[in-house]
Amino acid sequence: MKRVLTGLKPTGNLTLGNYIGAIKPLIDMQNNEDYEILLFVADLHALTIYQDPTLLKERVKKFVAMYLACGVDPNKVTMYIQSKNPYIAAISWILECNTYYGEASRMIQFKEKSKGSSNFSIGLLTYPVLMASDILYCDADLVPVGIDQKQHVELARDIADRFNSKYGMTFKVPEALVTKVGTKIKDLKHPEKKMSKSEENPNGVISLFDSEESIIKKIKGATTDSDNLVYFDEENKPGISNLLNIASVMTSRTINDLESEFKNSGYGTFKNYVAMVTAKKIGEIQSRYNELLNSKEVDEILNKGLDVSINLAKEKYELVKEKVGLSD
Ligand code: TYM
Repeated sequence: MKRVLTGLKPTGNLTLGNYIGAIKPLIDMQNNEDYEILLFVADLHALTIYQDPTLLKERVKKFVAMYLACGVDPNKVTMYIQSKNPYIAAISWILECNTYYGEASRMIQFKEKSKGSSNFSIGLLTYPVLMASDILYCDADLVPVGIDQKQHVELARDIADRFNSKYGMTFKVPEALVTKVGTKIKDLKHPEKKMSKSEENPNGVISLFDSEESIIKKIKGATTDSDNLVYFDEENKPGISNLLNIASVMTSRTINDLESEFKNSGYGTFKNYVAMVTAKKIGEIQSRYNELLNSKEVDEILNKGLDVSINLAKEKYELVKEKVGLSD
């Protein structure tokens, strides 16, 4: 059996990009008995940038209810909140002491977010090491992520390898699992950039909390080229290719199938279709979300998940301490 682990940071809104890059792949895996799945809210990661304390707390709960509404089955997936397991940050410190500054500062996300300023927290630099701890404490085999996080999983692999060769076998070396379709859902207004929770232009980002009206409006207003032919070509037709990716995940139809239906029907008809299927899917998710949000079920699921996570992390922390020579 393979252990699968993934996490999402509770910042901004959960977007269609997160759904397609992280939540949907997990839902597709949960019925496969070869996988044991852990899914967590990376709330410690959110703190790299200031968060309003009240909003952060609310958002963590909302995110969990949203994962469940998207179709994560709590009987098949262990769900927990990262900060409730203190061993993860404790292991992270020991990993930090086994990570080079050069490695951490080469991370693309760090470079992008720290560009032109020194006014950022050190947490922004060490954040990928905490992510390594998230992954390594539980000996994850597979880590489903969007392509933007692949480099961080590679760093986790390097840290595990280094630690194992320095101190003896301690961590399993994980593999990133990057979904093929819709690997990187792009901003609707700027299809050369990823659809990001923190994007300044909200018209380019579909949030899972958006109203039907707003989803339809955003998709109809998506930037496209002007040749009016619907086919997949990420380089020359990033806007249309992005919409094909979105429609494919929303309907479970292949890109080929969608291309043959819409090839000659013009952008108006195609955008209309993408808008309708996306609004319908997100609408269904929101109805379940509203039922779940204030139910006791969410707390029960999280408590159960936390027990599993703490048992795994405590055992790993004891081993790591012993390996590096900390007192027991
Ligand atoms: P975060 O919260 O930015 O994103 C959560 C997941 O969604 C994917 N994603 C996307 N995929 C496709 N298209 C997009 N536009 C898009 N935007 C986001 C991300 O790749 C990610 O898989 N550091 C992580 C959270 C994390 C984590 C972990 C993940 C912390 N520890 C351990 C896996 C394992 C992050 O900030 O993801």
